[in-house]
Amino acid sequence: MQMLDLVQRRKREGKDTIMLCAGQPSTGAPSQALDAVSQVLYDDTLGYTEVVGDRELREIIATWHSDTYGVDTKADNVIITTGSSGGFVNAFIACLDAGDTVAISRPGYPAYRNILEALGANIVDMVCDQSTRFQPTADMLDELQPNAVMITSPGNPTGTIIDPEELERIASWCDANNAWLISDEDYHGMSFGRPEATARQFSSNAIVVGTLSKYYSMTGWRVGWLILPDALLESVENLQASLALCAPAVSQVAAKGAFTDEARTTLDAYVDDYRAVREVFINELPKIGLGTFADPDGGLYLWLDVSEYTQDSEAWCHKLVEDIGVAFAPGVDFDPVNGNTWVRLSLCSTPELAREACARLDEYLNN
Ligand SMILES: Cc1ncc(COP(=O)(O)O)c(C=O)c1O
Repeated sequence: MQMLDLVQRRKREGKDTIMLCAGQPSTGAPSQALDAVSQVLYDDTLGYTEVVGDRELREIIATWHSDTYGVDTKADNVIITTGSSGGFVNAFIACLDAGDTVAISRPGYPAYRNILEALGANIVDMVCDQSTRFQPTADMLDELQPNAVMITSPGNPTGTIIDPEELERIASWCDANNAWLISDEDYHGMSFGRPEATARQFSSNAIVVGTLSKYYSMTGWRVGWLILPDALLESVENLQASLALCAPAVSQVAAKGAFTDEARTTLDAYVDDYRAVREVFINELPKIGLGTFADPDGGLYLWLDVSEYTQDSEAWCHKLVEDIGVAFAPGVDFDPVNGNTWVRLSLCSTPELAREACARLDEYLNN
């Protein structure tokens, strides 16, 4: 957010900046979502929906999930939340007791750590590096003995996808050790070729988290979902009733439009755009002498080692914006231990801007 402030300030001063620090699509909602909303704005009171979400939307998500992954997901097990962020809070409170040990990936999405810390969980890191393409493995769990395991695929900040076989091993470990598996599948639909598996293919005890914010290009609409095992349904419904009452009604209407085949045509084209930006980065960055060590398989990001240039990625990112007008996200946000030598690049750009950013970087670092 500091980087965004910096970029905004530069904009006011008339200085150009190539924004590669954003964690959201630069596109808006698909027109089918907007059409769905425009029909109800004047005709519907848009009051609270059911606590667990609009029944029709829950059915749409259950059908999509079943058809996409070949599983049997029931609408009763789908709960609509205020973004996936609302889902995490519900899921964590429902399945954890204070002091429970939760394994999270490092590097990883910072909110898990923040929310879990606030809830008094004992956080243990699954330290992920290039040897496992920045994804955790089941072998890491024996030593950590967590009560819950949080996984993210495609990952943030790395964009790597966990292999289905490894996901199966992690799910089996969790079932055998009575641990919850919470699978953040927010970036599903955004693979550049690798297969994406849902945790529910391997365990009906898994908790799946999803969102409209990424593939569906609807961050500000604040709609996400949880797919829950039966055992958690009642507690999550009760929590949601107290924490949110329901997800935004108007956004739930929009969501139904976003789940249509027509909308998917638009949204799949956005994924092609991210793929094109990725191609530029993975071709150009090594020429500059910057290694990714694991090219992104999907999602919106690329994780870049800048240890040759800095031991303080935050200061480095600030300096880069001021000196060459290129904005990255500092790695310390995602890895509090080693992130001082890493940065995250966003694929939400254009191939032209990505090329220009690489050219500026080359000139800056090598000449
Ligand atoms: C891995 C991951 N999970 C969850 C979120 C939060 O998304 P939402 O907008 O659905 O709350 C983000 C946002 O960047 C994310 O990167």
